[in-house]
Amino acid sequence: MKINEIRKAYQDFLNRKNIKIVPSAPMVVKNDPTLMFTNAGMNQFKDFFLGYSESPDKRIANTQKCLRVSGKHNDLEEVGVDTYHHTMFEMLGNWSFGDYFKEDAINWAWELLTSVYKIDKDRMYVTVFGGDEKDGVPADTESENFWLKHIAADRILKASKKDNFWEMGDTGPCGPCSEIHVDMRDEAERKKTDGKTLVNNDHPQVIEIWNLVFMQFNRKANGELEKLPATHVDTGMGLERLAMCLQGKQSNYDTDMFQFLIRFMEQITGKKYRENETTDIAMRVIVDHIRAISFSIADGQLPSNSGAGYVIRRILRRAVRYGYQALGLKEPFLCDLSVELGKAMGDAFPELKSQGELIQKVIREEEASFFRTLETGIKRINDLISKAKTEGKNELAGAAVFELYDTFGFPFDLTSLIARENKMLLDERGFEAELARQKDRSRAATQVESDDWVILMNDDVQEFIGYDFMHTNLYIVKYRKVKQKNKEFYQLVFNVTPFYAEGGGQVGDQGSISNGEETIEIFDTKKENNLIIHLCEKLPKNLTAVFKAEVKSHQRKLTQANHSATHLLHHALREVLGKHVEQKGSLVNDEYLRFDFSHFSKVTDEELALIEQKVNEKIKAGIHLDEKRTVPISVAQEMGAMALFGEKYGDFVRVIKFGDSVELCGGCHVRSTSEIGMFKLISEGSVAAGIRRIEAITSDKAENYFKERAEQFEKISALLNKPADVALAVEDLIKKKLPFPKRLKKFSAVSWLELKMI
Ligand code: ALA
Repeated sequence: MKINEIRKAYQDFLNRKNIKIVPSAPMVVKNDPTLMFTNAGMNQFKDFFLGYSESPDKRIANTQKCLRVSGKHNDLEEVGVDTYHHTMFEMLGNWSFGDYFKEDAINWAWELLTSVYKIDKDRMYVTVFGGDEKDGVPADTESENFWLKHIAADRILKASKKDNFWEMGDTGPCGPCSEIHVDMRDEAERKKTDGKTLVNNDHPQVIEIWNLVFMQFNRKANGELEKLPATHVDTGMGLERLAMCLQGKQSNYDTDMFQFLIRFMEQITGKKYRENETTDIAMRVIVDHIRAISFSIADGQLPSNSGAGYVIRRILRRAVRYGYQALGLKEPFLCDLSVELGKAMGDAFPELKSQGELIQKVIREEEASFFRTLETGIKRINDLISKAKTEGKNELAGAAVFELYDTFGFPFDLTSLIARENKMLLDERGFEAELARQKDRSRAATQVESDDWVILMNDDVQEFIGYDFMHTNLYIVKYRKVKQKNKEFYQLVFNVTPFYAEGGGQVGDQGSISNGEETIEIFDTKKENNLIIHLCEKLPKNLTAVFKAEVKSHQRKLTQANHSATHLLHHALREVLGKHVEQKGSLVNDEYLRFDFSHFSKVTDEELALIEQKVNEKIKAGIHLDEKRTVPISVAQEMGAMALFGEKYGDFVRVIKFGDSVELCGGCHVRSTSEIGMFKLISEGSVAAGIRRIEAITSDKAENYFKERAEQFEKISALLNKPADVALAVEDLIKKKLPFPKRLKKFSAVSWLELKMI
């Protein structure tokens, strides 16, 4: 079976078990501060397991794009070195939310593997949880008994918490699990060593293929387990490993998923795979990493200097480094490899095709810049070496090596290789000490320590009424203390809330809650999965009182104007520049709006003027908001609603329509475009290869700008004592010299300067 057939057989089988197939969630996580990337199929369902919200379907399945390169599940260092770990992989999974449990999950897994995929039963082993005294969880004899119906007792192995108790992260849903392992060794090897002894022992041919997790607990911040309100199933099977098994290969990289990429690497390097361990590892690293990089960019995550973008940048650099060091590549190559990937996987994942040009441009630019880094780094090392030599030293200082690594992005092992070639030692200890210090610094900066929730009321449905109301009476349902960057604050959850939680580019609402005796300021509102969380610096004394909540309405109205203007801008950009324009990032607050989009050249002054004019025409036309709150996604698609790639949409979506601008959007908007008042572009520039950024202002700010311009215009006329058309010509001259203002203030100041010169 080819990869595509294996994927399809999985879905068809589960469909026959009355299980609904849902799409993969984006790989880059946007609504969960505890997670940067999707690292397991269950991430998007976390709230269902915890009972925070209810799934419309009790049985679902999918194939999920996962990335395990940060946090609790991080396989990066193993990737390429072994033959069965990946940064990005596809996880076939099926879930039950309070529906079927251990018996069905086990029976179906067995049926699929042995009857559909026809894996030899003699090659299979299963593990079950052996119990853990400290956690007070007994051995899973239930699962053991269900397995006994299918497989001999001596093939059922008991395993410890480390291997058979699955947890998503340090806190959250978890439970005992049961894994299925397959022994892929040849007959001679199997005779020599009993496969049982190799299970869970890092053997490349005796591998786990499917993990069946029985979610029964929530791990609390203090480490204790609490029982979940219902029991659930969460399974995950790595598609690449399954393919290796079904295609009878020795490694994931020998399957049709990777072979075409390896062939391409052989072509461009002139080196053969399987001839030399070092070049083999490099090829595996590269063909693995290209998938993680390409899919992340398609999901809207560009390489950058912080957060998820930084992780992607590091993966890309790791691939380039292996190409440079082990394969002798001195010029960008990953961008061409991504074309091959698009050709092979573009049918199953159309985003690779539709965003192909952007993916290649971004990769090419990143690679080129890292190759430059490597070049300057090598020069720097050579300088350090000659300096050390003239000083009569035979060691490079740890701090200098660390600076190369940290400030200049130069890989440590390359430094150490060059040093060795020059018969120099490295102060590795000093380097490690610097690295540890830096890790501590960044951990302290990003670590969030959350206490457990304190439940005040059992009200699990939280209603958001902020589209219609900016105040209401409410109760606090639960709260918790959170510590970040040594600052303590509280998170509150209400039974009903008018506060909009940061999302879709729009910032979270600010405001207050008051019970007549005391007023608590809400300084931000955020989302954690589906939960709306209100941030405040202190707790009210009387937590169970009725509170009157007020959103800062002036601020919200300005934000709404900027948000609606963003939709008009998006539409105008597609009209003026073309349909290749896609949103790549957005920020909307009460001050201004910022919009990033794919476009491959500078937007000209004429185009900008036309875009601005089109948006202002729509504002003048006073188009009424046509809002549909719960539309089936298929109907929204038929309406031509613009969806963003890399966003997670449910079965029902909200559609925001202003004339021909139709977008899927959860944000807050004006009732009529006339409320936006006016729209003024204030900057245009590049943020990355193939991505442009526009900033604009609306409302009072834009009106003041135009007023100021009108006054300026009059002053020009008066100053020159010439009729208006001459003033117009002068203004035109100014514009030509200063084609587009970088910032509004700067613009006014500089124009006056120019004017004086004229
Ligand atoms: N969530 C489980 C895993 O990732 C299935 O292994």
